[in-house]
Amino acid sequence: MSYFRPNIEKMSGYTPGEQPQEAGFIKLNTNESPYPPPAAVVKAVRAAAGADLRLYPDPMANALRRTIAETFGVKPERVLAGNGSDDLLTMILRGIVGPGRIVAYPVPTYSLYSTLAKIEKARVREVPFPDDFTLPVGLFRRGAAATIIANPNSPTGTMVSNAALSRLARAVSGVLVVDEAYVDFADRDAMSLVEKHPNVIVLRTFSKSFSLCGIRLGYAVAREDVIEGLAKVKDSYNVNRLAIVAGVAALENIAAMRANAEKIRRTRARLTAALEKLGWFVYPSQSNFLFARVKGPLTARQVYEELKRRKILVRYFAAPGLDDGLRISIGSEGEILALIEQLREMHKGE
Ligand SMILES: Cc1ncc(COP(=O)(O)O)c(C=O)c1O
Repeated sequence: MSYFRPNIEKMSGYTPGEQPQEAGFIKLNTNESPYPPPAAVVKAVRAAAGADLRLYPDPMANALRRTIAETFGVKPERVLAGNGSDDLLTMILRGIVGPGRIVAYPVPTYSLYSTLAKIEKARVREVPFPDDFTLPVGLFRRGAAATIIANPNSPTGTMVSNAALSRLARAVSGVLVVDEAYVDFADRDAMSLVEKHPNVIVLRTFSKSFSLCGIRLGYAVAREDVIEGLAKVKDSYNVNRLAIVAGVAALENIAAMRANAEKIRRTRARLTAALEKLGWFVYPSQSNFLFARVKGPLTARQVYEELKRRKILVRYFAAPGLDDGLRISIGSEGEILALIEQLREMHKGE
């Protein structure tokens, strides 16, 4: 007999990318930043790691809310901080979707959406992307309590236009969540849609472009009533003291993030060109990773395994539609050059 609810007993939990226990790997599998956070951010966290840790944090992380509001030109009441954007996704599934209601999203995408839906016993409407990864027409329907678009999408790195998102916001009857975890590596963002549509929730994170996935910090921007509703279902002190300080300092040093994002974009162009030269098909990426269909003497799984043997980790998904490709996070220039060298060597025998 199980102690768990039947739906939890049946489901498998979210599978994160491998975090190798041995040192010495070039990690290009979990979309982390290859660059450290700015020294000023580390200094601020160190300074906050003192006696005040005996006190609970501000439940609404107001210092951070205000800084986010100033940085992006929105009202603080329209901002809610979370323990990573995963925490905000949990609040959305818990507070807006819930048991028996529908959550819709295009696939393939970030697999946590499906995990959270299973936990909530929500009904899932998964609509396959067309080959060009534009928004599938099957999403433009009423009935879903929440429709979620990762933009840029993972694992493809592709992006849909704001015009398409605006049309979708008008077509759906529930909220439209635009998960912008990777948007700082893209040419545009959808923040302005919050002003235009009462049902749009934009999610952002400090994990990728700000090099702070270890601190767990994200935020949502939406109309005040949506933010108030989400706040009702959040954990009481969901953002810790050190994360609040890190977030404020990161935004005060936003130029460092922008410079790192620019480096990643340059390295991304270099990797794309090198993979295309090997004959691989690379989807146009607006993210800090790219997805490529493997061509040549080895299958995608074999390339993944061979790279791992050579101490380079990339992400392989053993799923239909993805199992002939690899998702590669954009590392530092040196890491990507090392990867390219290994791949060229593997292709030599052709
Ligand atoms: C599309 C997408 N959204 C959200 C997240 C989670 O980000 P966070 O670290 O802020 O929880 C990820 C992380 O991999 C992601 O790929």
